[in-house]
Amino acid sequence: MEPSINNEKIDSIIEKYKGEKGLLISLLQDIQTEVNYLPREILIKVSKEMDIPLSQVFSVATFFKAFSLKPRGRHLINICLGTACHVRGAISILGKIERELNIKVGDTTKDFRFTLETVRCVGCCSLSPVVVIDENTHGRVNQEKVFTVLENYR
Ligand code: FES
Repeated sequence: MEPSINNEKIDSIIEKYKGEKGLLISLLQDIQTEVNYLPREILIKVSKEMDIPLSQVFSVATFFKAFSLKPRGRHLINICLGTACHVRGAISILGKIERELNIKVGDTTKDFRFTLETVRCVGCCSLSPVVVIDENTHGRVNQEKVFTVLENYR
C-alpha cells in the first residue's frame, strides 16, 4: 500500500519554515522524512506557502539524490557498484535482487517494502561487496547471504 500522507503534519512542517526561504532544503528533508518521498502536490503547496517559484522547488527536489519524487519503500536498499564491489560480484548480486524482488534499480516493490538503488563506493571497500540497507552496512555479501539479510527488514 502506498504510504499515506498526514496533511496536518505537512502543514505544521511548512509552518515551521515560513519566512525562511533559505531553509528550503531542510524543509524538504523534513517532508521526505515524514512521507518517505516528495509528492508533487506537496511541492506545489510548498511553492505557494513559501512563495518560492515551483521551478526552484523542483530543481532542489531533483538535484539531491537523497530526495525522491516517487514513493519509496519502507527500506532503502543501496547496492554499492564502486570498483572494489564491482570486481567482487556486485552486479550479479544486484541482478539476483532485481529478479527476486521483481523490480529494477530505482523501483519500489508493490508492497512498498523495498526500494532498490545503487551507490558508488560507501567507503568500506575492504568489506566488499557491500549492500547498505537504510543506515546499516552489510559487508561480504553474496547471492545467498543477501536474502538472509533482507529477511531482517520486515
Ligand atoms: S567500492 Fe564498494 S565500498 Fe568501496
